[in-house]
Amino acid sequence: MKKIIITIDGFSSCGKSTLAKALAKELNYIFIDSGAMYRAVTLYFIENNISLDNSNAVKEALQNIHLAFQFNQEKGKSDMLLNNRNVEEAIRSMEISNKVSEVAAHPLVRDFAVAQQQQMGLEKGIVMDGRDIGTTVFPQAELKIFVTADPQIRTERRYKELIEKNPTITLEEVRKNLETRDHIDSTREFSPLRKANDAIELNNSHLTREEQLQWAIDMAHKILNS
Ligand code: DC
Repeated sequence: MKKIIITIDGFSSCGKSTLAKALAKELNYIFIDSGAMYRAVTLYFIENNISLDNSNAVKEALQNIHLAFQFNQEKGKSDMLLNNRNVEEAIRSMEISNKVSEVAAHPLVRDFAVAQQQQMGLEKGIVMDGRDIGTTVFPQAELKIFVTADPQIRTERRYKELIEKNPTITLEEVRKNLETRDHIDSTREFSPLRKANDAIELNNSHLTREEQLQWAIDMAHKILNS
């Protein structure tokens, strides 16, 4: 049976992971949330006071970081392990969200994560979401999706997600975080967020999860049957 690589890139909080996870389940593919890897590195850097201005310290820190994904049956997706510690909850905090784009812009951090992501795709049968998956990680991917959504809708979606765990969070705080991350992610020097020339754009502002999933399944089947 033919297997392909599917990349899903886009700005923060466009619903990329939700779509990637559902699509992978449907196709019986592996789903990889590449952002979780940058978040785990950020957690390590914060906990160990690693300064991004000190290349030697960054290099040494990366040598001490082991990242792995562990499938969580209950959630139907993988949890992020940082040096064998389950950090899935910890990496979703606002503290990490406020720092992750800066860490992810570091060239050594990018090389570190991209090399591991490319290894994961060697056997294909993978759906990976992120910012540079279709441009840098898997430029040869058979199906590339670039997700967009209205900024106001993205802010509200993210707010709804975060308020459950953090009742003091404000809509303004969420909006600022998304704006700042989008700016850093799309203007950084090394593999900035951009739509690959051969990516198909999906604006999901007014689509339900089911509608988006059906659209993506149809796209994948078209390629698998060609
Ligand atoms: O998808 P996310 O919001 O969890 O990603 C967190 C951050 O990681 C995002 O703001 C930018 C960075 N990132 C990246 O630079 N490249 C990727 N492939 C995935 C995420």
